[in-house]
Amino acid sequence: MIRRTAVYPGFFDPITNGHLSIVTRGLEIFDDLIIAILNNPKKIPLFTLEERIQMIEQAVSDQSNVRIETFDGLLVDYVVAKESNVILRGLRALSDFEYEFQMALMNRKLNRDVQSLFLMTDYKWFYTSSTIIKEAASFGGDVSGLVPDVVNEELKRKFKEIKNA
Ligand code: PNS
Repeated sequence: MIRRTAVYPGFFDPITNGHLSIVTRGLEIFDDLIIAILNNPKKIPLFTLEERIQMIEQAVSDQSNVRIETFDGLLVDYVVAKESNVILRGLRALSDFEYEFQMALMNRKLNRDVQSLFLMTDYKWFYTSSTIIKEAASFGGDVSGLVPDVVNEELKRKFKEIKNA
């Protein structure tokens, strides 16, 4: 039997419970999921690539059939190289729609064999994002429940480190 693999791409700076919900639900549809972190030096992340990988590894340690990889260049080329034809994305409130629509259409123009598949984010995560979580955490706000425990601890450590620098 052919195993169906989906690629779940993103920046994951850091991974949130919203992302994890998409991973869990994606695995109800696909046999294997690749969490593909964009390695893009143009965008300066809060966490290094290694830190992001480690946090994701811990956060998905109870899930089998999940691989964590990095990519650069065109996403559709990476998807094909992984012998997949599906880009999985989560869709939150209205704000995501235009960006996701643009990206999906561009990816479709680049390769019509690759399909973009969207899962509506669970209502619990509708208004959260890595960006807003980082913003709150940077001022000492409590973001527990929105991110995995490991990420919560790492956010505290990172902002303490930045403050003391
Ligand atoms: O977590 P993000 O920032 O929403 O993820 C965006 C990502 C990584 C999916 C997107 O920037 C991407 O696919 N970049 C790779 C470059 C590419 O293929 N661009 C063409 C499609 S717009």
